[in-house]
Amino acid sequence: MKALLPAALLIAALPALAHDVGALTAETKKTVLPVVPKVVAAMQEAVADKGVAGAIPVCKEQAPALIKEKRQETGWDIRRVSLRTRNAERGTPDLWEVRQLADFNIRAANGEKIDSIEKAEIVSIDGKPVFRYMKALPVGEVCVKCHGPAEALDADLKARLAENYPHDQATGYSKGQIRGALTVKRPL
Ligand code: HEC
Repeated sequence: MKALLPAALLIAALPALAHDVGALTAETKKTVLPVVPKVVAAMQEAVADKGVAGAIPVCKEQAPALIKEKRQETGWDIRRVSLRTRNAERGTPDLWEVRQLADFNIRAANGEKIDSIEKAEIVSIDGKPVFRYMKALPVGEVCVKCHGPAEALDADLKARLAENYPHDQATGYSKGQIRGALTVKRPL
């Protein structure tokens, strides 16, 4: 019996440890990640059907709408963030996210496969434990059409972007880079 006491005290002192990060990560991924291929597929379809300029609404409205649906279904805070945003209002990372995004870039530069770059951690926000999960979003073939080097973008698209996003920083990417991340916050 004696040996149990220190362990119990430790758990009481560090509530975060009482949660199983592995199980939380698995559950979060299973719930949230199906959104990613859905958005990519919608993007590919829209670009093929309507051309790049016509496909802007997919990234502007449909992707956030699919994410919002998940948010309502789960009650979790789910967003897309980037170190170089197109829509700063929606996509600006907080301090924890900035650190992870910077680390993701380092991990990619060290040869880690972007598809498997992620981070899960229990952090304390206002004294309460919060599970945080982030997954890198790679720049694929279709992404370059709207996030590639500014000089290579379709003229009509460029005009529409300038009109909608005067402070756009989300160009200049090439395939195989990290465009940003999907980020999840779950109060425990
Ligand atoms: C048809 C043009 C288009 C394509 C193709 C496109 N995007 Fe975007 N992307 C946008 C627009 C427009 C926004 C701004 C959305 C908003 O207003 O919230 C955006 C925003 C984002 C954001 C949110 C952060 C930010 O910069 O504001 C991420 C992350 C992102 N795109 C990733 C991707 C990825 C990954 C792909 C490829 C799978 C991709 N995009 C393909 C137009 C596009």
